[in-house]
Amino acid sequence: MKFNFIAERLAQQTEHNRYRQRVTIEGVAGRTIRIDGNAYLNFSSNDYLGLSNHPEIQAALRDGASNYGVSASASSLVTGFNYAHQALEATIAEWLGRERVLLFNSGFAANQAVMHALGQQDVLLLLDKLSHASIIDGALASSATVKRFRHNDYLHLAKLCNNAPQQDKLIVSEGVFSMDGDEVNCHQLCEVATQANAMSYLDEAHSIGIKGDLGQGIATTEVDIVMATFGKALATNGAFVACSESLHEYLINFARHYIYSTAISPAIAWATKRSIELVQTEKWRREKLQSLTRLFKTSLNDDITLLPTTSSIHAINVQSETKALAVSEQLKQKGIWLTAIRPPTVPKGTSRLRVTICANHNDKDIKYLAKCLNEVLV
Ligand SMILES: Cc1ncc(COP(=O)(O)O)c(C=O)c1O
Repeated sequence: MKFNFIAERLAQQTEHNRYRQRVTIEGVAGRTIRIDGNAYLNFSSNDYLGLSNHPEIQAALRDGASNYGVSASASSLVTGFNYAHQALEATIAEWLGRERVLLFNSGFAANQAVMHALGQQDVLLLLDKLSHASIIDGALASSATVKRFRHNDYLHLAKLCNNAPQQDKLIVSEGVFSMDGDEVNCHQLCEVATQANAMSYLDEAHSIGIKGDLGQGIATTEVDIVMATFGKALATNGAFVACSESLHEYLINFARHYIYSTAISPAIAWATKRSIELVQTEKWRREKLQSLTRLFKTSLNDDITLLPTTSSIHAINVQSETKALAVSEQLKQKGIWLTAIRPPTVPKGTSRLRVTICANHNDKDIKYLAKCLNEVLV
């Protein structure tokens, strides 16, 4: 038989309790999801600010579709770049105080595009050990030398920089780390970058909308390049890279994921613009996340340890795949949807429950979640 490894590798996944399957979500109503005819309280969503069902974003999506089209119908360099894209780029540039912004179809594509376009021969890409798969894959597919520094360890980063023969270096990290919930120390990272004469890159997938007074994320102006997805707190789809004028022009000319791909949907771009306006003005959503987080932490039994976090991502390391799956199933029986996170998404031996608290949860939901976790994690 051809491609024998397909069956072999799937069998291995099953053996290691890592077999992955999709579930069909029959409906989403804010904090709950409907699966197989049952409603569950959803604690696995990245709709951190609870904007996914917002009527004004939905209305903007309809307006965008009517005025600018559902599809861009071409790549940006042909006839795919239209007013909705330009308006969204300008909104983000002003929000983040950046010279220019470039839109991508997904965060995965944006990370790959930049790593690939900047990762030329004689360049050193320095990635935080816990960087997202799209960063790692993009870097490894480039012509650059790739090194990974220990998670948030800036002494290790400085050492790698000092020992590097390459003149051009890019330091890459995330604002909030997706599977742990902790965050970069932007100041320390930029200090190393300045000393090493390196550029810095921050993936704000899990911090955009949530961090900063106007939800603009963690990156200070010292960070050279900021990337974020629209698919999480901003509750639409697609992504952006914010950078200098010259890098913007370079990416338009050399980023293959940008050049050879149909531009992001104009309707989605228009809806995202409305979403960002809501993120800026509705500060109460960020404040609510903080108060729900406090309630969650104080409602858990003392013997349940959360990984240190500064976000609304709360990870409980149960180590084994089997235990993570069993706890997830027990919670399901109690009406809670909490997906078990297993390797290779997280390192071996650190399978976990990843709780995401969203602004549309209420105190009762949080207390119920804590009560159930207290019962099943004994
Ligand atoms: C840190 C991080 N970067 C990038 C991505 C990819 O973004 P997107 O879902 O828009 O492809 C994700 C998640 O999906 C992520 O968690």
